[in-house]
Amino acid sequence: MDLSITVNGIKFPNPFLLGSGPPGTNARVLAKSFDAGWGGAVAKTISLESSKVVNVVPRYGKLRSRSNSEVIGFENIELISDRPIEVWLEEFRQVKKEYPKNVLIASIMEEYNKERWQELTRRVEDTGVDAFELNFSCPHGMTERKMGSEMGEHPDLTEEVTSWVTEVATIPVWAKMTPNITNIKEPSLAAVRGGASGISAINTILSVIGVNLDTLRPMPTVEGHTVPGGYSSQAVRPIALRMVSQLALALPKEVSLSGIGGIENSHDAIEFMLLGASTVQICTGVMLQGVKMVDELREGLAKFMTDKAFNSSQEIVGKSLPYFSTHMDLVKKMKEAKRHKAGEAARDNEWAQKDITEKTAELTSN
Ligand SMILES: Cc1cc2nc3c(=O)[nH]c(=O)nc-3n(C[C@H](O)[C@H](O)[C@H](O)COP(=O)(O)O)c2cc1C
Repeated sequence: MDLSITVNGIKFPNPFLLGSGPPGTNARVLAKSFDAGWGGAVAKTISLESSKVVNVVPRYGKLRSRSNSEVIGFENIELISDRPIEVWLEEFRQVKKEYPKNVLIASIMEEYNKERWQELTRRVEDTGVDAFELNFSCPHGMTERKMGSEMGEHPDLTEEVTSWVTEVATIPVWAKMTPNITNIKEPSLAAVRGGASGISAINTILSVIGVNLDTLRPMPTVEGHTVPGGYSSQAVRPIALRMVSQLALALPKEVSLSGIGGIENSHDAIEFMLLGASTVQICTGVMLQGVKMVDELREGLAKFMTDKAFNSSQEIVGKSLPYFSTHMDLVKKMKEAKRHKAGEAARDNEWAQKDITEKTAELTSN
């Protein structure tokens, strides 16, 4: 089945992209993912001076289910790529030459300096990549150099820096937004004012994964100490879905959305598409399951399209958005449907009569 989708004039063989991070850390893994069937990839974020990027070990931490060992949350304190720009430029050229039909998106980040952003943009575009993703959202490490989410948390900076890039770029520019902000619509709209044709959301959520009760040290522990890091994996998905839906309802129609956050299978990916994402990105899911997970993503999407009689991936995008409303409207609709019994169920005395877990189950939809 044809799963392709055209976004900002670029044809993606399918909507599934590697999210920026370890899955897209060099040409070899990018090639492996395209061989496996991914429609595209956002490579690991790069900057002009890799020598300033020094990673620590360990830099990951997992939150596991209490009932089995399944990973439900994942923290990282990893920085952007520590590989030299010259190596990356050569690898972008090579990957684009070998995989002309797969979409290669370069994730870039720089300091607050127009010349540096524009130099990086020009040099990277020259390699033939299909689009840019501006990393305004890495919440740790880079922020100490006023990069990443230090920009995405300030709409004025987001707009200005995006406009520096769009002034020289001739390919589509997406801005990747941080969820560590009260209203993600503000910096996203600022990026659009700066010329972005797409928004990617979300990057990781600031977190502390846990504390070791033997050593009393917070984790991940590097020489006895830590810093708060970025939270990802399935635990963040509901927050990402909420933010993507808010963006889909607020952004101009021509601005594309790439949904990210806790996607682990086709079911999760389709949820993001129904809420307005025309492509989806997966990072932690690939780190935990490997690139072959794309088989299930493609099969699951094809089956969903057949079952629900969708003729193209595009038709799914935003299909569930009309079902968001206001709480007042829900109350009105409920009354109109004469569901007085359900309404009365909220009465205090019923809570008192029943066990609270029973009452919670009664009021839950799934
Ligand atoms: C180890 C790790 C490294 C990451 N590095 C980057 C990065 O270099 N640039 C970037 O934009 N996002 C980076 N991210 C964020 C992911 O691309 C993604 O936005 C986030 O993890 C949520 O999606 P997920 O739950 O599918 O991982 C990284 C995430 C992880 C777990």
